[in-house]
Amino acid sequence: MPFINERLEANRESIEKNRAASGPVRASRFRFEPDLVMARLRQNIVGQDEALDAMESMLVRVKADIGEENRPLAVHLFLGPTGVGKTETVRLIAEAIHGNRDGLCRIDMNTLAQEHYAAALTGAPPGYVGSKEGHSLFDLDKVQGSFSKPGIVLFDEIEKASKEVVRTLLNVLDTGRLVFPSGNREIDFRNTLIFMTSNAGALDAETHQQRYQRGWRRWLGLSPGKGEAIRDAALRRHFDPEFLNRIDQILTFNRLTDNWLEALLDIELAGLNRRLSKKHAELILSPALRTELCRSYDARYGARELLRAFRQRLEPAVARALLAYPECRRFRAGLKGNTVTVDQYVE
Ligand SMILES: Nc1ncnc2c1ncn2[C@@H]1O[C@H](COP(=O)(O)OP(=O)(O)OP(=O)(O)O)[C@@H](O)[C@H]1O
Ligand SMILES: [Mg+2]
Repeated sequence: MPFINERLEANRESIEKNRAASGPVRASRFRFEPDLVMARLRQNIVGQDEALDAMESMLVRVKADIGEENRPLAVHLFLGPTGVGKTETVRLIAEAIHGNRDGLCRIDMNTLAQEHYAAALTGAPPGYVGSKEGHSLFDLDKVQGSFSKPGIVLFDEIEKASKEVVRTLLNVLDTGRLVFPSGNREIDFRNTLIFMTSNAGALDAETHQQRYQRGWRRWLGLSPGKGEAIRDAALRRHFDPEFLNRIDQILTFNRLTDNWLEALLDIELAGLNRRLSKKHAELILSPALRTELCRSYDARYGARELLRAFRQRLEPAVARALLAYPECRRFRAGLKGNTVTVDQYVE
């Protein structure tokens, strides 16, 4: 097709000309802005500054595209107790890069715990039903991304995976590829950000932290000391060194202390207000209700209890008020006795 070729030739010439005029341009193939991703993370995740700083370095490195060729773009393991923002961080990255909280492929290792489910990860071995199709749990588009966007995979509760599955993963981390047992198909992870999460060691590290809070080291102004060592020992109990060695960075997410509760509440309220703005309405909370909602926080379950209280106690009352006062633009939620009330707000 001469026409297209001519066009290409013309394009090439004009690009060369521009280059000559302005010097070489070092453009990344990736169309995402680390700053914008980080702004979203920092707005929506509280109390995990260290982990977020590490995400920033990772994003900048990926954008510069200088990683090794035959490996995934990045491999991170998130440790920490339940409900502290591990999965949420990955979802927010997916949202910032792909415009969609579900723009990632999540594999729940818990369901793969039994050996015979391992086939679901790697595709059935030859001779088994489904081996020709090479079915696996992976959503190819989300794993492989595109030329301008990295794919994202999240392996949740990695400590539950069987030895066999971990071996498969080891290969993925090593070569950036997953070759199916049938040998005729592979999944490419070389354009993928891999995240893994685990609660392993969270409890041990926590007990140590609590002892430190009560103990003499704190009173003498000494650092918690062994925390890191305890975490590493717990990790070694759960995972082989070969596996740990292939992870770029292991990050610990902290338990959320009481001083973060108001901020968590505000993030949730901002989300609700975004949805309400489509109905031209806005909600504010009374100080008494704030205190009451924060009281439902239970450190053992992380942010989830607080969010549950927000959704189960506040949102139905808001819904009722919206229907009762279709003209009203501003609402105020408060507390009467034990009941959440939502009224028209007049300044
Ligand atoms: N640090 C945080 N900042 C803001 N919101 C948070 C934070 N931690 C948790 N949340 C909120 O709580 C919900 C549950 O958190 P998330 O799913 O990230 O838990 P997790 O750390 O992955 O726990 P699990 O180990 O149980 O999977 C999130 O949807 C988010 O709304
Ligand atoms: Mg999670």
